[in-house]
Amino acid sequence: MNLILFGPPGSGKGTQAERLREKRGLRHLSTGDLLREAVAKGTDLGRKVKDILASGALVSDDIILALMREEIVRVGKQGWLLDGFPRTVGQAAGLDAQLVELDQKIGAIVVLNVRREAVVERLSGRRTCTQCKTVFHVKINPPRVDGICDRCGGTLVQREDDRPATIEKRLDVYEAQTQPILAHYRGKVAIHEVNGELPVDEVTRFIELVLQ
Ligand code: AP5
Repeated sequence: MNLILFGPPGSGKGTQAERLREKRGLRHLSTGDLLREAVAKGTDLGRKVKDILASGALVSDDIILALMREEIVRVGKQGWLLDGFPRTVGQAAGLDAQLVELDQKIGAIVVLNVRREAVVERLSGRRTCTQCKTVFHVKINPPRVDGICDRCGGTLVQREDDRPATIEKRLDVYEAQTQPILAHYRGKVAIHEVNGELPVDEVTRFIELVLQ
């Protein structure tokens, strides 16, 4: 099955995607992770997008559509889980055209609903492992040893775009450019809304329920 995890920055898309990936054998395709990896490696793409990511604005639709087409082709029919894509109505239309060409379909969209205030609290405390990308929160989901990943022993860092002013900007961008995607898909693809403010395990349980 092909799925889209949808929701504002910090709604738990990455957290839930890891669980769905393990349970359902899907390939987790996160545009944010792919772009940050390109920045870390200093590739041409990384140099182009570095400042855009740090500012909280969106990378252009052309760049994102080319990147994701390659990834979707690579995964083939194994089943994918999109996280952070599509992010504009233009990207949604571009994805639709690519899927027709590749004879694939979106099985469902899962929306994680989280209020703005909760997002700010979550993102300002988020820490991410530089090696395995596991996500922690300094208060809600702290690592056993401060600054060290429980899973692989890697170093935990704060993302450059998780600073207060940039978080607010990302939320504005989400409301203006990303939320309208739901209207684009309503009536065409099954859309399941889940309360993303429940504890992590509960959110996972509800996602499994709506996907049954
Ligand atoms: P991206 O990496 O996609 O970031 P995002 O959408 O802003 O989402 P986040 O990764 O911040 O949050 P998340 O929903 O995955 O939450 P998480 O699970 O980490 O994009 C970054 C940038 O890249 C964009 O700003 C843009 O510049 C660019 N970009 C990416 N895709 C693009 C595209 N398609 N087009 C153009 N540009 C693009 O959880 C957050 C925190 O909350 C963690 O600390 C976690 O432990 C905690 N948490 C999770 N679930 C719960 C829970 N249920 N209860 C309590 N705490 C929880």
